[in-house]
Amino acid sequence: MHDKRTPAIRAFEAEQQFQLLVQSVVDYAIYMLDPDGYICNWNEGGRRIKGYDDAEIIGQHFSRFYELVDRDAGEPEYGLRMARENGRYEKEGWRLRKDGSRFWASVVIDPIRVDGQLIGYAKVARDITERHESALRLAEAQQALLQAKKIEAIGKLTLGLSHDFNNLLGVIVNSLDLISAHRDDEKRVTRLVEGALRAADRGMLLTRQLLSFARGQALAPEVRDVNELVLGMKDVLMRSCGLGVDIELSLAQDLPPIRVDPTQLEAALLNLVINSRDSFAEGGTITVATGLADRRPPEIESTARDFVCVCVVDDGSGMSDEVVQQAVQPFFTTKEVGRGSGLGLSQAHGFAAQSGGYLHIASEPGQGTRVTLYFPALED
Ligand SMILES: Nc1ncnc2c1ncn2[C@@H]1O[C@H](COP(=O)(O)OP(=O)(O)OP(=O)(O)O)[C@@H](O)[C@H]1O
Ligand SMILES: [Mg+2]
Repeated sequence: MHDKRTPAIRAFEAEQQFQLLVQSVVDYAIYMLDPDGYICNWNEGGRRIKGYDDAEIIGQHFSRFYELVDRDAGEPEYGLRMARENGRYEKEGWRLRKDGSRFWASVVIDPIRVDGQLIGYAKVARDITERHESALRLAEAQQALLQAKKIEAIGKLTLGLSHDFNNLLGVIVNSLDLISAHRDDEKRVTRLVEGALRAADRGMLLTRQLLSFARGQALAPEVRDVNELVLGMKDVLMRSCGLGVDIELSLAQDLPPIRVDPTQLEAALLNLVINSRDSFAEGGTITVATGLADRRPPEIESTARDFVCVCVVDDGSGMSDEVVQQAVQPFFTTKEVGRGSGLGLSQAHGFAAQSGGYLHIASEPGQGTRVTLYFPALED
């Protein structure tokens, strides 16, 4: 069919249709701005969202929709400049209605060019206050949940620690009772004293762990020979393991010294040895070995310097991959309430890292465990 309308009429009608389309969009405020940001034209959505009449808005600068702080900060001009330079500007922020109320707007500004010449901007704004507020409420709820989880974790920890300390004090008090009842039975007294000392050691270790956790471990490093430290701890290590557990030392000769906080190294070793002891169903063998690291974990592979390592090896239950992954996290434990607080490996790991070294776990279920502490060797 032949269209009898002239091209001018067709263009006029297309323009009318376009106007109709823009005007019937009521959820988006659509403006045409001149190159300086003055409003030339806007749609029904703009009137509805902002609450102004045409006469109040046409010819005004679009910055009047911004809050005073944003206007002072040059936000409106910045938006135009970004649109000009980058071809588009998108932002969310608070905007003002005529009655002074605020709404959260999602704004897009596009530059309009004819033959390369900037003739103005198209600005499309949407009122997304509801979405913004529900996002805020969600974030608040998540925060509250996190807080509740933290409190729950602290509750569990306190429960675990109270059990731990109660058990330890129970052992000590019982031993003292029995000692005073059987003062003459020398063998028995010796055994009881050992048991009580073991409990006291464990209590001291626990408080040390808690303190270093709370303080983020303030270290007091000294230059020390690692073998000397290990040898000095043998009695404590044996005492904390009790009967049925063999402790073997395998110390490499002529090791360079390291710079560590000796108390923390002792705590770390004790933690590792107690973990090994706990992994035995009955008895077992724990080897504490020192040496120069020949094979290194990837974390320190690239450094040229030497590392001295101390490792604790056991033939106990071993760990699944999943447990290995989480083992050094504070409060991660597979032990029942009152038997572990999940701070041992976290202390050892934090201490090694703070001393410029690294902790590595190699373990498989049923194959035992090897936990290695690496420390940078000091040059002579
Ligand atoms: N030598 C090991 N053999 C088997 N599993 C181990 C060994 N060492 C650690 N684990 C596992 O890693 C977990 C975390 O160890 P970690 O020493 O940090 O805490 P814990 O021993 O449970 O409690 P805490 O040391 O505070 O008394 C343990 O609960 C255990 O499951
Ligand atoms: Mg432990």
